[in-house]
Amino acid sequence: MTRLRPLARIVPRAHQLLREVLRPGDLAVDLTAGNGHDTLFLYRCVGPRGRVLALDIQEAALQQTASRLREAGAPVWGPGEPENTAGERAGVHLIHDDHTRLERYLADPPRALIANLGYLPGSDRAVTTQPASTVTALNQSCRLLAPGGRLAVVVYVGHPGGRKEAEAVDALFSELPAARWDVLRLVAANRPGSPYLLVGQKR
Ligand SMILES: C[S@@+](CC[C@H](N)C(=O)[O-])C[C@H]1O[C@@H](n2cnc3c(N)ncnc32)[C@H](O)[C@@H]1O
Repeated sequence: MTRLRPLARIVPRAHQLLREVLRPGDLAVDLTAGNGHDTLFLYRCVGPRGRVLALDIQEAALQQTASRLREAGAPVWGPGEPENTAGERAGVHLIHDDHTRLERYLADPPRALIANLGYLPGSDRAVTTQPASTVTALNQSCRLLAPGGRLAVVVYVGHPGGRKEAEAVDALFSELPAARWDVLRLVAANRPGSPYLLVGQKR
């Protein structure tokens, strides 16, 4: 596939839509830390008085994220903090755990969450997000999100299992009650198979 041109690039759109609701001092969550680009974005929005929780099941991903955030001057905590104390201090909290266990680490409602699905670029493609655990983590995210906050999910269909996961995520978002949620689905309409974005805002 040719490289997507700026209009159709999805991750910057996810950031744009989260930036609109994030303020300095807020709490935000990255459900898939990966190489740390989204975690760094969240940190820049909430600033040094804010808190970012970033989870990943791969140690290598958290190391990448830690060095990216330290280079940017962020205070970085963990991994290895005890459950429930993660996130009490300002800064970025790295959590080496499955995002299905998100609620164990969150004492306060986050203002924004992001899940950039799929596999870690440049690493083992076998370690990828999975439909069942993704849906569990997203259901928790919907429950925990602060009113007025947003949940953004970047969905990829190109890897094995990607289409099944996409169907599960589409179903979850389309079933969110319209009386309590505003939901947007953003896709490059003339590029079948390109990543797309789902964003839900809780009223
Ligand atoms: C596409 S990458 C994320 C990209 C990242 N947000 C960035 O800015 O570089 C997906 C990540 O999800 C992680 N992952 C897969 N399944 C997971 C799970 N059940 N819980 C937490 N992280 C998971 C992978 O290890 C991988 O690092």
